[in-house]
Amino acid sequence: MNAKPWLAAAALCLTLPLALAAWRASTGVGHWTEAERTTLASLHISRLGAAPADPSNAVATDPAAAALGKRLFLDTRLSANGRVACASCHAPERGFQDGRPVGEGLATGSRRTMPVPGVAHARWFFWDGRKDSLWSQALGPLEDAAEHGANRVQLVRLLAQAYRPDYEALFGPLPPLAGLPVAASPLGAPAERAAWAQLSPAQQQAVDRAFANLGKAIAAYERTLMPGASRFDRYVAAVTGAPDADAQALTEAEVRGLRLFIGKGQCVSCHAGPLLTDQHFHNTGLAPRLPASPDRGRAAAIGRVAADPFNCLGRYSDAPAESCSELRFIADDDPHMMGAFKTPSLRNVATRAPYMHAGQVATLEAAVAHYVSAPAAAVGHSELGRPGQRRGERVPIALTAAEAADLVALLKSLSGPVCESRDGRPC
Ligand code: HEC
Ligand code: HEC
Repeated sequence: MNAKPWLAAAALCLTLPLALAAWRASTGVGHWTEAERTTLASLHISRLGAAPADPSNAVATDPAAAALGKRLFLDTRLSANGRVACASCHAPERGFQDGRPVGEGLATGSRRTMPVPGVAHARWFFWDGRKDSLWSQALGPLEDAAEHGANRVQLVRLLAQAYRPDYEALFGPLPPLAGLPVAASPLGAPAERAAWAQLSPAQQQAVDRAFANLGKAIAAYERTLMPGASRFDRYVAAVTGAPDADAQALTEAEVRGLRLFIGKGQCVSCHAGPLLTDQHFHNTGLAPRLPASPDRGRAAAIGRVAADPFNCLGRYSDAPAESCSELRFIADDDPHMMGAFKTPSLRNVATRAPYMHAGQVATLEAAVAHYVSAPAAAVGHSELGRPGQRRGERVPIALTAAEAADLVALLKSLSGPVCESRDGRPC
């Protein structure tokens, strides 16, 4: 009897498991510890769940409000020159972003346009969190001189002219236009402010209520915008046993990058959870756009959100005061908030250069390099550990050039679809 086939079979039996083990080690599915698997599971898109309720917006989950909000989001008539819509900067075909270092509306702004998908899961809005709800956020750009440059009386007139049936079906009658000037706002140009001052308190409140309702409809639309699964999620699913798994979804370099992301890169300490953001504010020592007047970020916003007439405790909020605990218990004396900005989601990050609150960083390579160089902050104190420092909350993020490249590769695996989702779950 020829022994060779047996030998070959025996050799295969011996080498196949070894080859399989080597393959598993190289793709990484098998070599994560229990603790690492738990961390990875916490980042999977399926952990997002339904968006939290917004008790301050009674129409937050109303599909008719979302449909109206979508039309408003795309409408350039909501501006001083008839050319600026929310979608001009938050372009749906670009992941609701514009690719510019800072926003460009009627004029050049001072901060970068933020991505909108997943925003229903945020607690504070804008880079500095100066708004406490999505509907109140929407009112900001409408009257900002560098963005839409509109005024609330003009907007109420537009609602009456172009949206009356849909608006009134949701919110009841619009205020009478008779006796209202063409343009007026407490925040506008001097002539608009003077016209606003001429209105009775009842007229002002009626206009403000319709203005707030406009924001509530837009917010109902924005709430539906969600990111979907990326290659990263399919790989994590293979590690953690979630559905739609694909152990080959990431390359070896991307898997090494993932290990760094949740390990010595420390990224996950702020870019946590399924949206890869802790929804909090941090000073990471980025160079200010205007060195002569550095942006104070969160520190300057806390007083503004507390004083905002359109906040959760204000008369246009639908929430009972006890459900506004974020606002009621806001800390106004936290020194870490000086120069701190909101951690952005990293989902789809590769599609939206340049980066950071004022587009100071051109590429993902430069973003990772920033964390390694960890410069001192221009205002406040950077939270990042700095080489050579004596005391600090964190050890420095030390990465070789090859490791930095692996992290960049991982960041590029976070791209997936954006969709309109009924219940604020990922698509
Ligand atoms: C001129 C460009 C521009 C226009 C127009 C614009 N935005 Fe923005 N958007 C920005 C910029 C810039 C920021 C960040 C501003 C800041 O932090 O001060 C931002 C922030 C946001 C955020 C905050 C996201 C977060 O995670 O906190 C939302 C939501 C948003 N915009 C929605 C809207 C809506 C709704 C409209 C229309 C009513 C609109 N934007 C119009 C540029 C624009
Ligand atoms: C201390 C918290 C913290 C840590 C640690 C951290 N980040 Fe960030 N990250 C932030 C904040 C805050 C911003 C926005 C900063 C700003 O614009 O001022 C940001 C922005 C970014 C951006 C730009 C995203 C955009 O849309 O502009 C990228 C990319 C990024 N981080 C990647 C990483 C990577 C990779 C790591 C690990 C090496 C990391 N971050 C570690 C808090 C952190």
